Amino acid sequence: CWLSPEQTAGKQKPYMYTQGQAVLNRSFFPCFDTPSAKFTYSATVKVPEGFTAVMSATSWEKQKDNTFVFKMSQPIPSYLIALVVGDIVSAEVGPRSRVWAEPCLIEAAKKEYDGVIEEFLVVGEKLFGPYVWGRYDILFMPPSFPFGGMENPCLTFVTPCLLAGDRSLVDVIIHEISHSWFGNLVTNASWGEFWLNEGFTMYAQRRISTEVYGLPYTCLEAATGRALLRQHMDATGEDHPLNKLRVVIEPGLWGVNPDDTYNETPYEKGYCFVSYLAHLVGNQSKFDGFLQAYVNRFKFQSITADDTLAFFLEYFPELKEKGVDTIPGFEFDRWLNTPGWPPYLPDLSPGQQLMRPAEELAELWAADGLNMEAIEAVDISGWRTYQLVYFLDQVLQKSPLPEGNVKRLSKMYPKISKAQNAELRLRWCQIVLKNNLEAEYSKVKDFLHSQGKQKYTLPLYRAMWGGSEATRALAMETFSATAPQLHVNVQNYVKKILGLGGAE
Ligand code: BES
Ligand code: ZN
Repeated sequence: CWLSPEQTAGKQKPYMYTQGQAVLNRSFFPCFDTPSAKFTYSATVKVPEGFTAVMSATSWEKQKDNTFVFKMSQPIPSYLIALVVGDIVSAEVGPRSRVWAEPCLIEAAKKEYDGVIEEFLVVGEKLFGPYVWGRYDILFMPPSFPFGGMENPCLTFVTPCLLAGDRSLVDVIIHEISHSWFGNLVTNASWGEFWLNEGFTMYAQRRISTEVYGLPYTCLEAATGRALLRQHMDATGEDHPLNKLRVVIEPGLWGVNPDDTYNETPYEKGYCFVSYLAHLVGNQSKFDGFLQAYVNRFKFQSITADDTLAFFLEYFPELKEKGVDTIPGFEFDRWLNTPGWPPYLPDLSPGQQLMRPAEELAELWAADGLNMEAIEAVDISGWRTYQLVYFLDQVLQKSPLPEGNVKRLSKMYPKISKAQNAELRLRWCQIVLKNNLEAEYSKVKDFLHSQGKQKYTLPLYRAMWGGSEATRALAMETFSATAPQLHVNVQNYVKKILGLGGAE
């Protein structure tokens, strides 16, 4: 992606970055562009004066003539090779970690994660085994970066939306760190089993989160994930062929493009399946032991779900004997090959203490004739970001609310309606659209102008296109102004939503 100066945070110099996953690196260098093949690499990159190059590599060195030499000494799949060239600088945030960003963002970047990364790595190593990649650095990308985070080895790429000022979106970092074991060490051999990367990573992320932040908070975060899965399945239909863990990747009419499998199913249904395996074992530390043995058994390899499940049954022979893979309704085969809502959901009730107040407040706001006394009695000033997110998801689910309620809600909680936090802004924009709150349509436009993350952009265009004449016009106007800033994949998905003949 070649960005003009206006498309960067500093607006002074151009920028270029690569995004390999899923099958885009074939346009970057010649390769076997499949996650089933792994190799080491080295690269020599010469850049213009005043620019810095960084890559997903275990070692790098700046030589004369603005030439950078990189080497990745561990075998990785093609999709994990990544390069950025821009006006970027770095700052230390831990013994093996630094943040990279444009100069105008570096202070904020350092402040966001100074001293917190190492603990996640240490907990990850305790749970899943050695961290083999040497450094763990984080690069803050320009606003149009299409993902929350991308687990390029040694150097995670993240959206600048994570710069919330309060570390509230650190779950994305924990997620990308978790890929150091699940995805980057043990890799799905085919994009048809993307859930092996993402489902195990969601599970690992929540294990680390539980150790660091405790079970109630982690269950709350998992509940917001479950709400996303619900929204996704409602929008696509539970029976949609992409709503199974194993999908058929093939060119042509019946197969799907691996980029199209990027939805909530591999993440959250995958998480449920891994949680189900843990539930079968019935003992957290035994299951943790399995995960560590699994990583050790398959490190630096690419595998299929059949390999994973065969190893699980081999590791727990008593479960194999019991035939846990064929329990009616919960067959491993059904998990993999049947679309629809997960047959097993992990118990998130330890999060109730945080979820209940949010649910009750949403009930109050959804009522005809607001009970302001009861509403004013609830003090949300101390709520965590994910509690507010959970509250807003409940409000969205109940929307449209009775006439006038959302307007009052907006006035009552400027902390929400004027939030700078991207997760809150997304939900607020969704609520504004679903309730036709015309007075605040400009917030949708501003948010879409400020960043280009796919998971924020597509739901808002879907909502605008599914709304009124006015929101459809807003969608067209916003897209024609922002399209050049968006990643080409995101552009194409938006075009498809707006009926502008984007790619399949
Ligand atoms: N590897 C993914 C991002 C990705 C997926 C890029 C598919 C290209 C194709 C990354 O690890 C990821 O899952 N990011 C999430 C983070 C979230 C689940 C915490 C994101 O970007 O939203
Ligand atoms: Zn991921």
